[in-house]
Parts: sequence; C-alpha cells; structure tokens
Amino acid sequence: MTSAPSIPFFNYPALFGRDEENLLSVVRDVLRRGAYILQKDVRDFEDALRKYLNVKHVFGVADGTNALIIGLRAAGIGPGDEVIVPSHTYIASAASIHLVGAKPVLADMAPDHMIDPASVESKITKRTRAIMPVQLNGRTCNMDALEAIAKRHRLMIVEDAAQALGSRFKKRYAGTFGAFGTYSFYPAKVLGCFGDGGAIVTNDDQVGRNIALLRDHGRDENGNVVAWGTNSRLDNLQAAVLHYKFKTYGQEIERRREIARIYERSLSGLNDISLPPGPDADPNHFDVYQNYEIEAGQRDALRKHLSDNGIGTMIQWNGRPVHSMRELGFTETPPKTEAFFQRCFMLPMHTALSDADVQRICDVIHDFYRRVG
Ligand SMILES: Cc1ncc(COP(=O)(O)O)c(C=O)c1O
Repeated sequence: MTSAPSIPFFNYPALFGRDEENLLSVVRDVLRRGAYILQKDVRDFEDALRKYLNVKHVFGVADGTNALIIGLRAAGIGPGDEVIVPSHTYIASAASIHLVGAKPVLADMAPDHMIDPASVESKITKRTRAIMPVQLNGRTCNMDALEAIAKRHRLMIVEDAAQALGSRFKKRYAGTFGAFGTYSFYPAKVLGCFGDGGAIVTNDDQVGRNIALLRDHGRDENGNVVAWGTNSRLDNLQAAVLHYKFKTYGQEIERRREIARIYERSLSGLNDISLPPGPDADPNHFDVYQNYEIEAGQRDALRKHLSDNGIGTMIQWNGRPVHSMRELGFTETPPKTEAFFQRCFMLPMHTALSDADVQRICDVIHDFYRRVG
C-alpha cells in the first residue's frame, strides 16, 4: 500500500469542478429561458456537429442506444435481416439490431481491437443486410477494407461511433461512412453530458427524414403526425452543455492523445504488456482515445497491484464480450475475442489526469514487473 493520493478510473467531480462556474451559467441560462424540449440549443449543437463532421443531417436523440435503434429503423433494417457486428462491443450495438427484429451476427476482432474484416466476410449469408463496425476506444476501423466488402456483397454500412466522435480514418470522420452513424454523450464519453444523450448523422435525405419523424412521435415540421414514431429527443439542457463543451473539443482530444503518448513512452518496453496503436503510429488513423485498453499476461495480479496502490482500472463490458452472453442465444466463440478477454483491461484515460498522475500509474506498473520478474 502507498500513501500517495488515489487515482480513480474516472473522476466526474474533478471534471465538473475545474469549470464549475461556466457550466452552471450554461444551465442557468437554459432554465431562465424555460427552454426544455427541442429548442434552439439542440439546433445549435446539431449545427455545430454538422459543420465539424461535414455531413448533411444531424439529429440529437435520447442516447447512443436509441440512436442505433432509430438509425436501423430509418434505414429499413428489420425482421429477416442479419447485421454483422463485433463481439468486442457494448451490448447496445447487438441489442439495437435485435430490438428492430433483425439478427446480430458476431464477428471476431483484429489486433487493433476493431472488427476483423476477414471474419466479417466469413459471416456473410444471403440474409446479411449490413455491417455495423464499432469505432471502439476512439479509433476508426480500416474502412477501406470494410467498404470493399460492403461493395462486393451489396451491403449497407451502419456505424456505431458511440466512442469515437472526432476520430478519423484517412481524414474522414467516424460516423460518416455509411447509411448513418451514431454517437453517445454518456457522461464518461470524450464529449459527455450530465446524463444520457446521443446523436445520429446521415448524408441520405430519406434516412434523415425518417430519423426526424422517428425521434419525435412521427411529427413533421408542422407538428402533424405522419408516421409511427417514438420519443427519443436529446434534452435541450444537455444540448446546451454539449454545445458549450464542444467549443473546446479539440483540446480535449489533444490532451487524451498526449496521455496516450506518455503511456506509450513509458510502457512500450514491457514484454508482458501489449499497448493499443499509438497516436502517431499510422497517418491514416487519428484516434481520440475514448479508452486506453491494454493487454497483460498477468492481468489480474497487475490490476490488484494497481488497486493496492490506489489506481482504478476497468475491464470493458464488465469483462464479458457479447458472445459470452449465452442467455441471449449466442452459441459461437470468436477465438481472438475470447483470448483477448483473458488479458485486456483499461488504464485511466481522462483529462483530469495530470502528467504526474499518468507517470505514477506507469511507475506502479514497472514496480509490479520488477517484483514478479
Ligand atoms: C460502443 C457503444 N455502443 C453503444 C453505446 C450506447 O450508448 P448510450 O450509453 O448512450 O446508450 C455505448 C456506450 O455507452 C458504446 O460504448
């Protein structure tokens, strides 16, 4: 045990506290205007995202899960269809496919933690309608490979970019490659609000029209109900917070990339550990480091040592990739994902960490390997 201050895996109060006055004045302004549902703040935030991503349509919705469900419905995916999705993802990706009446088919992962294009191709059947790449940990998949498969087999690409706002592959933003792309603004996301929030983007006018109707009770611009819809609107209050935070989003991303560089410099010599691709490893990829997910042969002992030293870590999805959820009817075991989940965990990654915090995490890891040899 050490007497050094603890470093939690995430730190909501610290992130709020460093900009408390400005955040409170954003909230106060919305409350004073009484602007709660689909007001100017939602539109302003949608406009800012539209310009940033260079897409035709952006819709703020209730959360990243509803974004996927609405996107799939708007793109016409439903009963009888299969959608290929990685097993290394949050249950929400697969659940959204199930909830629109289609079948999620699980693919294995590549060494960069993303969906493996060869595995995707091996899962295609005559029922396959779409591939759902998950832009995981703030990285965008190699979309050349996936777009080539989609083209060859006439499939749609529908992107779960919940973890990857701002991430790029060959200068194109995660979320903008397919029929639609989705984002989550869950509080721990790189762009997070004070509750649930999400967005859907599309360049397809018809898909956009469908999304607009679906998220607001099927109502058109005049308030007339013209289709079946639901209530899945981004709260205006959350939109105001997101719009405010989005103004400094570039700095947020740069700081995360800097933290990734410190981890990489300090940990890359350790044989037991595999690190994710570094920020400067490949000019085709621009990663925003939603998470810093590493592998370690001695994972459980290393996590315990970090915990004994006050350092919080996590295993993504509570340690369970989607294929392991046999209760949901999955029967196959993608071998690379299965092996990865014996070794993976995440180090702290957020902008309340100082350089000294990150260095201390690295020092504690080095100390572990000095002890175990
Ligand atoms: C990969 C992925 N997909 C979907 C979601 C669902 O987003 P939300 O929690 O906003 O519903 C999340 C995040 O939480 C996620 O990480």
